[in-house]
Amino acid sequence: MDWPGRTGGLYYGGDYNPEQWPEEVWEEDVALMRRAGVNLVSVGVFSWARLEPLPGVHDFGWLDRVLDLLHEGGIAVNLATPTASPPPWFGLAHPDALTVTADGTRLSHGSRDTYCVHAPAYRDACLRIADALAERYFDHPALAMWHVHNEYGTVCHCDHAADAFRVWLRERHGTLKALNDAWTTSFWSQHYSAWEQITPPRATQYLPNPSQVLDFRRFVSDAMLDHFRDQKAVLRDITPDIPVTTNFVLGDWVPVNHRHWADEVDVVAIDHYPSADPPAETAFAADLARGWASGKPWLLMEQAVVTYTGPRMVAKRPGEITRLSLSHVARGSRGAMFFQWRASRGGAELWHGGMVPHAGPDSRIFEEICELGALLPTLVDACAAPVEAGAAILVDSEANWALQAPGLPSSEIAYTDAVRQAHRVLYRHGVTADLVHPSADLSAYPLVLVPALYLVSDADAGNLRRYVADGGTLVVSYLSGVADEHARVRLGGYPGALRDLLGIRVEEFHPLPPDVALTLSAPDAPDALNAPDDPDVPDDHTATFPGPRGETGTFWSEHVHLEGAEALAVYTGPHASGTPLDGQPAITRHSHGSGTALYVSTRLSDDAYARLLGLTPAPVELVRRGDWFFAVNHGDEEQKVEGVTLPPGGFAVRTHDDLDLDRSASRPREWH
Ligand code: GLA
Repeated sequence: MDWPGRTGGLYYGGDYNPEQWPEEVWEEDVALMRRAGVNLVSVGVFSWARLEPLPGVHDFGWLDRVLDLLHEGGIAVNLATPTASPPPWFGLAHPDALTVTADGTRLSHGSRDTYCVHAPAYRDACLRIADALAERYFDHPALAMWHVHNEYGTVCHCDHAADAFRVWLRERHGTLKALNDAWTTSFWSQHYSAWEQITPPRATQYLPNPSQVLDFRRFVSDAMLDHFRDQKAVLRDITPDIPVTTNFVLGDWVPVNHRHWADEVDVVAIDHYPSADPPAETAFAADLARGWASGKPWLLMEQAVVTYTGPRMVAKRPGEITRLSLSHVARGSRGAMFFQWRASRGGAELWHGGMVPHAGPDSRIFEEICELGALLPTLVDACAAPVEAGAAILVDSEANWALQAPGLPSSEIAYTDAVRQAHRVLYRHGVTADLVHPSADLSAYPLVLVPALYLVSDADAGNLRRYVADGGTLVVSYLSGVADEHARVRLGGYPGALRDLLGIRVEEFHPLPPDVALTLSAPDAPDALNAPDDPDVPDDHTATFPGPRGETGTFWSEHVHLEGAEALAVYTGPHASGTPLDGQPAITRHSHGSGTALYVSTRLSDDAYARLLGLTPAPVELVRRGDWFFAVNHGDEEQKVEGVTLPPGGFAVRTHDDLDLDRSASRPREWH
């Protein structure tokens, strides 16, 4: 697949929804797109009701004119199948294809994404409209890519879902005996004696079965992927050379295992809407996408010109659109796309902004959109080489799903927070990280971080063992290796799957209340630490861990026994005293083969985490690609990076020859 063949460079554009506007606006749109340097737009994402106003009655005339206009303007089209929002007639004709929530409520038409991917009527209607589009536009010169559906994520609990779930379970478990065993149905009289007795995890009296919930999430991801594959097959058949993708939505609620999906798309596409800390969140999202893509192209398909902070939609600060887009591109995105081209004047998302805002082209936003459009083509050479990563962080959707189960030892556990912290620490210290699955080939990474990897299969544990034996440095944090793939605890002491590798055995978990911080000190000098107010103790203690003031651990703690490992820090201080943790190991280190495996049984502050890893802060975002170097100053102060001065909000994309770079500046501590 020749991609991105249409432009040869980086894609720039966004969702274009001409159906929201009278035709006279379309010509202005194309003229403005040309002014802004737009070369790709996603068309028709939610246009099913316009394309098929009545069952089987198609109206393609308007879309013909839109595609022709765009093509005349030199703009390529990422043509969407509109299946994320069936028209009103569809739900009336097929009420059984509307979503049913866990509590049995059947949703009504009125928003979007109200469908059941397991309902035969919906599946058929999707294939018919995808086929009609492909037959109509297979040879249209504007067609550059297919955009199937939009942000898969609707979970349905109806009887169609139940039937499909049973079929999936039979395939996964083979026999009812195996399923009963995997789900520990001996607990609370849940033993199944016939497949028909099994349902999706619908609303129930008290805690649901965590293994059932986990399998249901796996099933939903697979079932939606099947829906994607069906459409892809239709499109592939008619347009074998046009790449097919779907845009991944990010978030803990998302019932999609993106790693599996990444194998099925020709281009990994993500939508990204940072909220609290846009630069760090952007780097995280981009590194995730690169990890899923694992060598194939990936693209930032949607971002906004505003930041959704939760309660507020805040206009991006001057230059922020460019900086965040640049961060995505530096980290591997084959362009920067937006939701959406023109801000809507009505409809549910009228305040979500657009490249052409409500104020029109005479606006700061559109000016910045034009500046970004002019910048991107200049970056093509800098993007030729792969992104260089100095570390890997292991991530797994299934571990996340298992840690979202109710009934865990703390209701405050947040897998993604643990992964994000690991990423943030590396990011703030100039280390680019690949976010990869525990089964990935880790041999190229000098450092691998394993945050809260609750579910670990035997095979993946073996992969980690091999990595360390061959000389790698592995840093495993609390709540890892605890359960098997059915979310059952591995017995004999935590972290079951990794005990031998880490040379420890954890006897008990001690989750901490928010106001408690345990002191961590060097095992041989527990009394030297407690000088928090001593002005003679220097603040900067990057060279040692724990530093001379000691460190603190919050949120979580564990009763760790050494079984071959040595303690790097022990729990001390008033909160530990009188508990089984007093004087016990908090952070350990174990040699295995020619490598080292560390275990961190509590949550460290970002600074302490960085000190443990021996990192020095990087004042700006840094990404290296072959001979090229991207530096982005997201802050409000001027920064100097190895010979370049970056003003507040400034950036530089240079070759190493232009810079006096110390390439060892952000290398993690070597343990052996
Ligand atoms: C996602 C969706 C778009 C739109 C935007 C809003 O990216 O794909 O349709 O809802 O969010 O920002």
